[in-house]
Amino acid sequence: MSIPEEFVQELKMRTDIEDVISSYVTLKRSGNRLLGLCPFHREKTPSFVVNKDGNYFHCFGCGVGGDPITFIRKIENVDYVDALKILASRAGMTVPEGKADDGMRKLKNRILEANREAARFFYGELMKSPAGKDALSYLHGRQLTDKTIVHFGLGYSPPERYKLTNYLMSKGFKGDELIAANLICQSKNGYGQYFDRFSDRIMFPIMDLGGNVIAFGGRIMTDIKPKYLNTSETPVFNKRKNLFALNFAKYVVKGQLILVEGYMDVIALHQAGFETAVATLGTALTEDQARRIKQYCDEVVVCYDSDEAGRKATLRAIEILRPAGLKIKVMNVPNGKDPDEFIKSYGEHGPSRFGLLIEKAPNDIDYRLNEMKKGFDLNRPEQRVDFLTQASSVLASIDNPVERDVYSARLSDEMNVQKQAISSLVESGVKHERERERREYRRRVNQNLSVQMNMNNNGNLRAAKAEEAIITIMMINSDIADRVYRELRPEEFVTGYNRSIYAVLVKRLQAGKGISISDVSEDFTVEEMSMLVKLIDSYSPETNPVSAADTYISILREEGTKLSPEQIAGADNDTIMELIRQTQKKKFGHG
Ligand code: GTP
Ligand code: MN
Repeated sequence: MSIPEEFVQELKMRTDIEDVISSYVTLKRSGNRLLGLCPFHREKTPSFVVNKDGNYFHCFGCGVGGDPITFIRKIENVDYVDALKILASRAGMTVPEGKADDGMRKLKNRILEANREAARFFYGELMKSPAGKDALSYLHGRQLTDKTIVHFGLGYSPPERYKLTNYLMSKGFKGDELIAANLICQSKNGYGQYFDRFSDRIMFPIMDLGGNVIAFGGRIMTDIKPKYLNTSETPVFNKRKNLFALNFAKYVVKGQLILVEGYMDVIALHQAGFETAVATLGTALTEDQARRIKQYCDEVVVCYDSDEAGRKATLRAIEILRPAGLKIKVMNVPNGKDPDEFIKSYGEHGPSRFGLLIEKAPNDIDYRLNEMKKGFDLNRPEQRVDFLTQASSVLASIDNPVERDVYSARLSDEMNVQKQAISSLVESGVKHERERERREYRRRVNQNLSVQMNMNNNGNLRAAKAEEAIITIMMINSDIADRVYRELRPEEFVTGYNRSIYAVLVKRLQAGKGISISDVSEDFTVEEMSMLVKLIDSYSPETNPVSAADTYISILREEGTKLSPEQIAGADNDTIMELIRQTQKKKFGHG
């Protein structure tokens, strides 16, 4: 770890957990705790708690937990150092650049550098090379202006399949770095030659929010499949977490983003003045992406193709966006066009027509009802009944009771049925859904409990409990920690998992570092942090923690010496060595 300790301390001081988390989650005060919907699993009943005094968060539903750094690691899917950077920029601090960067960070930086160079290279090929001419006229043919091409940094990958490799290697990049970046491949014949991954394609750089090129989409200009070749997962690229053009859109969002399917749609829309358009990266919308969107706005216009696939994708997107707390409008571009084609087919009037369509777009409930209606012949009584039954289940998915009521009233008007009849259908649907959620919630909580129990504890639950109690008491009471770590050796722990946790705590204490939950996240994974928070959060303090600690230590020692034959057979070497030591101690009465 190359970041100076004082810097981290200062950053932690300036970081307020409520402030950090509430920019992702709406928190409501409930007694002395803050409560919200967990951003890490789908739920409608809040089980996500922020404990300001303890400086940790914890979800009872899915079991995640940790300090503010862990929160950022998990929600932004970044490592510890990047989480510090994000928190630092919030706090107006700059992380000092360390000399001794660890391997993964170094590789990530090299990949980003290689991508930037590659983007420059592709751009140069598009603008200056003879082979790039066709590509440039292809883009012009699709009515992109040079300004747009430059703005999005579009490029062209030449057909030869050695040019980029040579170029980047001449800039000092190594084969394995470029392979990790997914920019080049290695032939599987005996020679292991390197060659360019992308060839004869229009190149779309994909950028993260900081404007780093993290990946490329490459479109072929003929009918050959696949139409798009994208960068696969790399250490800097996760297609399920990023959105195309959000790096531009984030500057202009005014409460609303437009979600489209394709890169070309985004680019055409931006050129037409709709600079809030973003797209997924060749996958269906994910919960992570929805959460990311929610950070920037409250409303999404879903604007997918109006073909069968587009409609299906729209319904799926609604299911993801609504639980993320976003309002939704749905705009199916008419006449089977995609947004790019639509805008262009009306020439200079394209943009204003498109704007009007957005304005008139129905919300998700109306959209779903309209879509559903198409499947029924409403002149036939039994079909009317079926429609109303299904429609009620759509209305039941609305959380707000007033909103539900408004829609029920409208449906009753439209269908000429008593509102009472519809409302009772809707409300029973709501009850049903609540019941399902409660069951799901209980299932998760039980699962969490048993995860902890099932962890490799060599079958010794009593020892595991004692270990957990020792760890918890130490993390809460620094005085006790100071004494215990000198007395209790990690090898005396019976369960492998707790032993490794304890060993880390001991190391920290030996180095004079703190071990409260706010101190330790540099040394633990996100999962380990969650486990520790769970312990701390469910701990009921003993009246006399000092003697409690002693009791737990003696329970642990007692349990440690009475493993069954099966457990001895299954235990690891450290445990066995310790067992032998303990047994001898007892026999010979010293120690
Ligand atoms: P044009 O056909 O040039 O107008 O591009 P488009 O962006 O409109 O593409 P389309 O609507 O066909 O597809 C939407 C998005 O799905 C694309 O932008 C890609 O992200 C993704 N996609 C389409 N085809 C492929 C493919 O063959 N492979 C992969 N990985 N993704 C694809
Ligand atoms: Mn298209």
